Amino acid sequence: MSATIKASQGAPYSRIYGVGGERGNRVVSNAEMCTIIDSSDEWIQQRTGIVERRWATEDQTPLSMSLVAGRKAIERSGVDPSQIDGVLVATGSHTQQFPSLAVSVAAGLGLKDPAATDLSSACAGFCYGLSLADSMVRTGSAKYVLVVGVEILSRQTDFTDRGTAFLFGDGAGAVVVGPSESPGIGPVVWGSDGDAADVIWTDEWNAALEAGKKPVIHMEGNKVFRWATTFIAEKTAEALEAAGLAPEELDVFIPHQANNRITDSMLRRMHLPESVVISRDIRQMGNSSAASIPIAMEALLESGEAKSGDTALVIGFGAGLVYAGQVVLLP
Ligand code: UT7
Repeated sequence: MSATIKASQGAPYSRIYGVGGERGNRVVSNAEMCTIIDSSDEWIQQRTGIVERRWATEDQTPLSMSLVAGRKAIERSGVDPSQIDGVLVATGSHTQQFPSLAVSVAAGLGLKDPAATDLSSACAGFCYGLSLADSMVRTGSAKYVLVVGVEILSRQTDFTDRGTAFLFGDGAGAVVVGPSESPGIGPVVWGSDGDAADVIWTDEWNAALEAGKKPVIHMEGNKVFRWATTFIAEKTAEALEAAGLAPEELDVFIPHQANNRITDSMLRRMHLPESVVISRDIRQMGNSSAASIPIAMEALLESGEAKSGDTALVIGFGAGLVYAGQVVLLP
């Protein structure tokens, strides 16, 4: 006998309701960085745009930073926390396989019985989360979803490697995604290439710990740079096209804050008009992986450079290799 099962149905569209961020408390200048590695302020600024980065202080943890960012996002969204029935946390900095960080974030925020899980998509994690949240809201598997990106990369940095040590920053960013009568999150352009899993990676944790070492991040910067300035620049343009927007209709561009030179090459590919506000948050933050986009989004809204209702193109890319990008309306 073939019975018919019911399928869930959600809102016609979704949108972002609120955004919140939290940065590492400690400001680390290039001058201070150059007391740790053999480099110069001039080299770091020229090659990346980074002027200073933010590192977590001892009292800050992935959980504590997620809670600050999440609370802010919820307060600003105006959504009653009892309505939030999904929590997605994108992170590479949670040091337990289970339980997930998401369940602790949900409990810490007093959310009652939400679906909660972590996403392991490195620097693309926040945009993966946005897309999944959009799908959850539109299929009816959740009504409001908290999406968090959080990293404490300074605790996974190899300070003997001058090719990566100056890059990383620590922080958390969060958004609340919920139902909408008109489109507030455009189609995602995303993908992965596991054949390139060996260009950015962390040590296998057990092996490192058994050898008495801290597991750290490794990267073949040049290869990642070439991929980002060619393939990812193309995909960035595709995400704009997928939303049906011409370059003139875009207000804000918030790429993953990996390197200002990568951002520049994306801009050359897309021929964006001068009027588009470009996030350069990396200057003060360094590369905070899954956290970089929501943190940069909050900064542009707080400074008044961007405003609620603006169209913003976001794209994350990194270890996997993986990427995800979409156009959103800013909350
Ligand atoms: O967030 C996830 C995705 N990650 C990224 O998108 C990162 C992408 N990669 C990059 O942003 C760049 O590759 C880096 C910023 C990491 C490095 O910049 P680069 O222009 O690719 O430098 P390089 O590794 O090709 O090194 C160029 C030169 C080398 O010297 P020689 O061999 O040309 O004499 C390096 O030894 O710069 C030297 N170098 C440094 N010099 C001063 C490397 N690191 C440093 C340093 N200070 N910290």
